Amino acid sequence: MDTTLEDRIRAELESNRERTGPPDGAVEVPPIPSGRYCDRDLAALERDRVWRRSWLFAAHTSQLPDPGSYLTSDRSGSPLVVVRGEDGVVRAFYNSCRHRAAPVVRDECGTARRLTCQYHSWSYDLGGRLRAVPDSRNFVDLDQEALGLVPVRCEEWEGFVFTNEDPDAEPLTEYLGALTEQMQEVDGTRLRWIDRQVHPVEANWKVVVDAFLEVYHIRTVHPDNAALLYDDSTVTVAMLPNGHSRLSVAIRPELLGVMDPSPVADNPSVGELWRQTSTSFGWFPNVIAPLDTGAFPLLCIWPVDEHRSELVLEWFAPDWGEGGMPEEHALRVALFQTVMAQDTANLGAIQRSVESPGARPFRIGWHERLVFHFHRAVDLAIGVDRVPSGLAVSDVLDRFVEDG
Ligand code: FES
Ligand SMILES: [Fe+2]
Repeated sequence: MDTTLEDRIRAELESNRERTGPPDGAVEVPPIPSGRYCDRDLAALERDRVWRRSWLFAAHTSQLPDPGSYLTSDRSGSPLVVVRGEDGVVRAFYNSCRHRAAPVVRDECGTARRLTCQYHSWSYDLGGRLRAVPDSRNFVDLDQEALGLVPVRCEEWEGFVFTNEDPDAEPLTEYLGALTEQMQEVDGTRLRWIDRQVHPVEANWKVVVDAFLEVYHIRTVHPDNAALLYDDSTVTVAMLPNGHSRLSVAIRPELLGVMDPSPVADNPSVGELWRQTSTSFGWFPNVIAPLDTGAFPLLCIWPVDEHRSELVLEWFAPDWGEGGMPEEHALRVALFQTVMAQDTANLGAIQRSVESPGARPFRIGWHERLVFHFHRAVDLAIGVDRVPSGLAVSDVLDRFVEDG
């Protein structure tokens, strides 16, 4: 991270620790209508305008080590397959056969030389070209060239592979903008994917994203872990373009170093600020990335319908070279289960509240403004004019969005 920015974050952490009222320049954060968390029309708009037009984290290159390595997912709402080609390039396609739309790959992950449909065995090469049609004598004028798998945009940043169903989307690195510079030191190409945990949540996906965009809750929800480690009074945030964000909170001085991994499990490219704070990034729309030295998860939040979602933790660790994974990574993954259980405990009840006649707009604090920023980005992605009546959030915080 740029040293000027690092200095600015350090100074803000300190001044936030000291202040006794809102900081200079802070404004009242406008309310968030609770109907945003249960409206079916809004959910349909999100599907078309957010999920089908945003860059969504799909995989890490370490999960696709060889030509033919593939992953499938339909969590974004569309069935996709991501596969490494013979030429080493990672590509994405709709996992949908050009004959009668059956999946060409059924497993969640694996390795294949050809993608062969599960219905009548039409077969595609790793670049998506249709290569074999059984009993082709029964098709008149079959143009195999024109019947390749339908491609989906697929781009990589530092080993993180993203897909986007919008053929006209801006390039991934432009979409991520300042994040690419600010997250550089995690050295993503040297990470290894190590684990996945899936938590079904009985709440709208935005209830879940909100829960990871503030640390106001840690004293109440995590009194025995995060609250002991972090001084939440220091929380320092940045609202970044395209709905992205950054949040830093200082480790209590007396506990500096306690979470540091041993040398074999450490990520040497991670600098001092990340070792003295928890610094997490929001990748709009659905990833919270608490990047860290040692093992860390990407928290990926996927909608199921307007009332339910899935929180998927994708865990990474710095490449440890030969031999088995350092035990402390597995330990950290296990410890985090407690934190996640605490985080998700309230969410189903929040959903029942926002769906009740007692629901009222959310009144949030200045230190929680990333929650508001995220909702505003949802509206901007949809187009504010299309948002169902009474459900849009205000634009008054737009002037606080930082370039970098
Ligand atoms: S649907 Fe794929 S071969 Fe028939
Ligand atoms: Fe939490």
